[in-house]
Amino acid sequence: MGRSVILLSILALVFFSNIVFAYDPSPLQDFCVADLTNTVRLNGLPCKDPAKVEAEDFFFSGLHVGGNTSNPMGSAFSAVTVNQMPGLNTLGVVIARLDFEPNGFLPPHFHARATEILTVLEGSMEVGFVTSSPSFRHYKKVLEKGDVFVVPVGLIHYQRNVGAGSIVAIAALNSQNPGITALPNAVFGANPDIDSGYLARAFDLDKKTVEELQQKF
Ligand SMILES: *[C@@H]1O[C@H](CO)[C@@H](O)[C@H](O)[C@H]1NC(C)=O
Repeated sequence: MGRSVILLSILALVFFSNIVFAYDPSPLQDFCVADLTNTVRLNGLPCKDPAKVEAEDFFFSGLHVGGNTSNPMGSAFSAVTVNQMPGLNTLGVVIARLDFEPNGFLPPHFHARATEILTVLEGSMEVGFVTSSPSFRHYKKVLEKGDVFVVPVGLIHYQRNVGAGSIVAIAALNSQNPGITALPNAVFGANPDIDSGYLARAFDLDKKTVEELQQKF
């Protein structure tokens, strides 16, 4: 009796921890360098023949160069993913460089599959995230050179330049495919449109404003 209760608890723990901690699956080999030409569809990318793997597969050069910030947000996100570095396949990590002009920003967004750890190399960045319902706590900091901040997986967050100069920052995320869902685009730029009357009620806006937002996004 006691033993079966313990067994059931262990089974329940294993079952729920798989669901709750749904990070990238662990690799089953030293590496699985992506074969970017293979058209097989799987959860990740198929592995290249290990005999053909080279040091280049684990290498990328270019994050010393700033991204193009000539856009309405005045920001750029230059990611090194499996497409730039095939050796990242199945390792559950990516890295990116962020550039913000003065007044530059990223809109509120979330990464469905990754925690983000941010390091500011230059400039002053306000970063904040909001917890889930029901508390909606807002945690924010202004990061200066050398400061590090972590945004927990799945939470809505934002970054904006609050200094006089530009920002250079590095972000690392613990998924090879973190996903990025920008809220303005997901809500007002859905394809096809989400019903504007419904959005007007959900956001307590008039329908005309919603339609204008839908035009923009
Ligand atoms: C930066 O992006 C803008 C807008 O897309 C484009 O017009 C411009 O040529 C780009 N600059 C560089 C250096 O790529």
